[in-house]
Amino acid sequence: MPDLLSLLPAALCLFLAGWLLRLQRCPAAGPGGSCRRYSVPGRGFHLKKWALSGILFFAFRRRRRERGGGAARREPMGSGAGQGALERLQGLVCHAHALDSVYFTGFTETDKTFVITRLGRRPNGLCEMWLFLRVDGIGEFEHPVHPDMMVRDESEKCWRAEGLMIECLEPHRHWKITFNGRLRKGPYRHQWNEEEGELVHVKFSFHWTSFSDIFDFNLDSHPKVFAHAIALEKWSAEFFRRVKKDGEQHSRYEQWGQSIGEIEIEGHEKKEVSMRGVRSHSYGIRNWAEIYRYVMILMHCEGGTSAHLTVVSIPATTTHLTVGYVLFPDGKKAGIDWSNASLAEMADDGIIRDLYQVSFTAGGQFFEVRAILDKQARPVVYNGLTGEGVFHECIADFQLNQTVPGWGLVEFYYRDTPGQLIPNSGSRWKEPSVPASSQFSEEHSQCIGDVAGKGAQLGQLT
Ligand SMILES: *[C@@H]1O[C@H](CO)[C@@H](O)[C@H](O)[C@H]1NC(C)=O
Ligand SMILES: *[C@@H]1O[C@H](CO)[C@@H](O)[C@H](O)[C@H]1NC(C)=O
Repeated sequence: MPDLLSLLPAALCLFLAGWLLRLQRCPAAGPGGSCRRYSVPGRGFHLKKWALSGILFFAFRRRRRERGGGAARREPMGSGAGQGALERLQGLVCHAHALDSVYFTGFTETDKTFVITRLGRRPNGLCEMWLFLRVDGIGEFEHPVHPDMMVRDESEKCWRAEGLMIECLEPHRHWKITFNGRLRKGPYRHQWNEEEGELVHVKFSFHWTSFSDIFDFNLDSHPKVFAHAIALEKWSAEFFRRVKKDGEQHSRYEQWGQSIGEIEIEGHEKKEVSMRGVRSHSYGIRNWAEIYRYVMILMHCEGGTSAHLTVVSIPATTTHLTVGYVLFPDGKKAGIDWSNASLAEMADDGIIRDLYQVSFTAGGQFFEVRAILDKQARPVVYNGLTGEGVFHECIADFQLNQTVPGWGLVEFYYRDTPGQLIPNSGSRWKEPSVPASSQFSEEHSQCIGDVAGKGAQLGQLT
């Protein structure tokens, strides 16, 4: 959440808070007096929301002006000097939960092929890696580390680990995603298993080109959804301090584009693919333990509309925040300002069903979305070193307004579902899975320079 609360006129805040403290009580106090998991509107809700909407509207506008004065707004697609820096590796802030993560998805719209990759750099040379692939007619594949996700970070100039490399060629315009290594043939594993499974050599290389503007959650989100989420909670000075801190910690922006490239799987013919999907860059501080749950919908529809809807519960601040956007085919973008999505009604019991329906409004238009989840393609990843928390990446077909087809995924995160601890997982980080000789040798790669250096370092460590 943005640090916009720093902009709240303090006096008004204190006045309102003091006054509303008398009005509000825990909106849904249970028998033991404790609040329920996801706050619901309590007394004073409408007044709180109304007041906040006004304040946040001006805060967002001011913030957009301040930041937007720079290169970002005027040339969102360009190689703009200022904003372009964000597209490079971000120095990890000095914090145990520092993160610098890039994520790419791609879906063919003619068959069942998809690719999902993520590299999230963490302190101490660690990296969160996601790598899932399905090639229509051949099968599903995942990185052998899964359902665990911690690998060794091998990056210096771009994101790279375990044979996967994600590199910016031109800020906000062109990226390159390549992999060369062994993947485990599916079905996707939902539990750690001692057996290695069938490993096959896979190579892919995609050139990604943006076709949308950038959506920056701290700048472009609709103020109304934050007003709604904050008004649901019990207000106190401590609460606002936490909201402010949370907003300052973390940034994320997204952009949609098309990937063109080829996939080569051992024993099969090389396949050329063209996919559409989102990329995101998220950096700052991200402690997964602070998030109780979220559901995220990412979809791209026939005709060119892209959308993102997240409902997230962060117990220390907002227990039910809905945020997202629509990128329209004509290039306009709009923050979602209302949705009926509810965490309580979306797999709250941990059982993910095959169909979810939500509505939302953005840019003055109403959207009705049906997500039909693929029964097979639901890979999971366990969070981090402790195994606490599980991500479910569910591939889905969509229907917008009951007629327009779409492609994408629904991601579910559960903090309190323990993943299974993987025995001796630490030892894996010592060996690169790809023989040094077959590492990247493509032209115009800025990443090549650091291969030798890293190799030497690896040698010293092992
Ligand atoms: C949201 O709206 C859709 C229809 O637009 C409906 O099918 C769904 O049940 C609604 N969800 C909730 C939680 O009310
Ligand atoms: C979806 O349908 C509603 C009417 O049910 C309409 O108002 C809205 O504009 C449609 N949205 C899109 C994006 O076509």
